[in-house]
Amino acid sequence: MSRAGLDKNPREVAEMFDGVAKGYDRTNSVMTLGFDRRWREWTRRALDTRPGERILDLAAGTAVSTVEFASSGAWCVAADFSLGMLRSGARREVPKVAADALHLPFADESFDAATVSFGLRNFQGTVAALSEMARVVRPGGRLVICELSKPSWKPLRELYRNVALRILPAIARPVASNPEAYAYLAESIRDWHDQRTLGELIEQAGWTDVAWMNLTGGVAAIHRATKP
Ligand SMILES: C[S@@+](CC[C@H](N)C(=O)[O-])C[C@H]1O[C@@H](n2cnc3c(N)ncnc32)[C@H](O)[C@@H]1O
Repeated sequence: MSRAGLDKNPREVAEMFDGVAKGYDRTNSVMTLGFDRRWREWTRRALDTRPGERILDLAAGTAVSTVEFASSGAWCVAADFSLGMLRSGARREVPKVAADALHLPFADESFDAATVSFGLRNFQGTVAALSEMARVVRPGGRLVICELSKPSWKPLRELYRNVALRILPAIARPVASNPEAYAYLAESIRDWHDQRTLGELIEQAGWTDVAWMNLTGGVAAIHRATKP
């Protein structure tokens, strides 16, 4: 079964997610000890969607977050370049679009907000993708990123990095449809930016008013920003 490398080759990333799509939601909940539900709830609150708004949920996978955002009455579209992941969420009644985060098939300023949950880390160009999201969001519109991050308390950080991330592929083995992919997951978390650095990259991509909050001691974090 295929897995991606840290060069984040888009073809390999898409194939890898096609390979984990079956049972992805369940595996995700097992791996995060159920915290994913709470993190999605916080992301929905940070996004603060209102009826009639147009929201882009990028790297939406099985659209598990998209339906949560759509419950506000906003029009939410799930975009992802893994057809396997989109198909796995076929029962979720939101519009779905096959799209690459670095070349979005949407007009300039066509959304009120763009959001990514646990997807940004997999893009080959972080700033390029954040700039592409800025292109499709209207001036004054919002960006919300929920991503795995760096625990702020040193003992928790060490435990997370040296123990939890090491055993993660073994935990995935009995439940995942492509356990190899979870070795990539652990590597990509270790290799990812801390909260401050990600905030700087968001600014570099043209967003303003960047702020973030830690979830579960910084195991995950939500970044928010506004399009000038
Ligand atoms: C860990 S999953 C997260 C899915 C979903 N957002 C969630 O919260 O469960 C990451 C998703 O990012 C998608 N992805 C990675 N790189 C992408 C890209 N360049 N363009 C579009 N989707 C991408 C993958 O196909 C995968 O569905």
